[in-house]
Amino acid sequence: MKENKILEKSVLCSDTVSLIIYSPVIAAKARAGQFVIVRASEEGERIPLTIAESYPSSGTINLAILKRGKTTNLLCSLNKGDYITDIAGPLGKPSEIEKFGTVCIIGGGVGIAPTVPIIKAMKEAGNFVISIMGARNCSGLIFEDSIKKYSNQYHVCTDDGSTGYKGFVSGFLTQYLNENPDKKPDRIVAIGPVLMMKAVCDVTSPFGIKTIVSLNPIMVDGTGMCGSCRVEVGGKTMFGCVDGPEFDGHLVDFGLLNSRLNIYCNEEKVSYDKYMEKHECKMKI
Ligand SMILES: Cc1cc2nc3c(=O)[nH]c(=O)nc-3n(C[C@H](O)[C@H](O)[C@H](O)COP(=O)(O)OP(=O)(O)OC[C@H]3O[C@@H](n4cnc5c(N)ncnc54)[C@H](O)[C@@H]3O)c2cc1C
Ligand code: FES
Repeated sequence: MKENKILEKSVLCSDTVSLIIYSPVIAAKARAGQFVIVRASEEGERIPLTIAESYPSSGTINLAILKRGKTTNLLCSLNKGDYITDIAGPLGKPSEIEKFGTVCIIGGGVGIAPTVPIIKAMKEAGNFVISIMGARNCSGLIFEDSIKKYSNQYHVCTDDGSTGYKGFVSGFLTQYLNENPDKKPDRIVAIGPVLMMKAVCDVTSPFGIKTIVSLNPIMVDGTGMCGSCRVEVGGKTMFGCVDGPEFDGHLVDFGLLNSRLNIYCNEEKVSYDKYMEKHECKMKI
């Protein structure tokens, strides 16, 4: 079979699609936390996508894609039997997986997808895994079966309250940490929109819980050459693609990341305060 063929397509929710792609070299090497750079057509731009699942035995990888702009919409319009022009990877540093004790893995929106291999690997390393997943509504809670399978506890949050806790993952986390002072996680991993990751870091900082976030700066080559993925961590300039994408969230300059992400964006820029206000997420610690 030729590489990069789409073997399966499924609609995960209204704006998110999963593609199972035949890519045996990447499937054999991929580790939790890594991503690929994809080109959807000959003239197309390169975009980074996290490897949500990889199956070395069948030589396949699973990419979960949220429709945002041109390339993600084009990818989501492809069907079973179609080919993706290029897929380069696996790229980036794998997640740090070891036996920490209790780990809490938090996913938001399409950021739920990359938590799946991390949850699995953390469980296999002997951790007690608490998963907290958030979405706008219940249909956005993707990969539920895989997450439940590898989690000791599975909590869900929805913005509209259609299932689980009504509100943000950061609100639920605040409540959880306040109500369970004896069960403080040894490590937290949060993946999702920039403002969500910042909100989680603001919650965990006073508790002194190390919090890893997976950053999503604009990427072009994914190999440390173009510099477009520059982020500031602990006052130092780092490249998201080769030094990350995972970093210590308490050291990340989220304001800079957010403004760099909006450089080419026509969408209204949302400030952290407005975001929290809009979602009535009042954190009391
Ligand atoms: C390491 C990493 C892993 C990611 N994993 C996933 C994933 O698994 N699933 C998923 O749906 N999305 C993922 N993204 C985000 C995804 O790359 C962007 O949504 C996509 O590039 C948007 O391209 P577009 O042409 O559809 O949209 P555009 O209209 O071009 O852009 C929409 C917004 O997407 C962001 N964006 C655009 N181009 C890039 C780029 N080259 N690199 C990064 N961000 C960009 C910008 O914020 C931009 O404002 C990841 C990003 C990074 C950095
Ligand atoms: S994407 Fe070019 S240096 Fe990171």
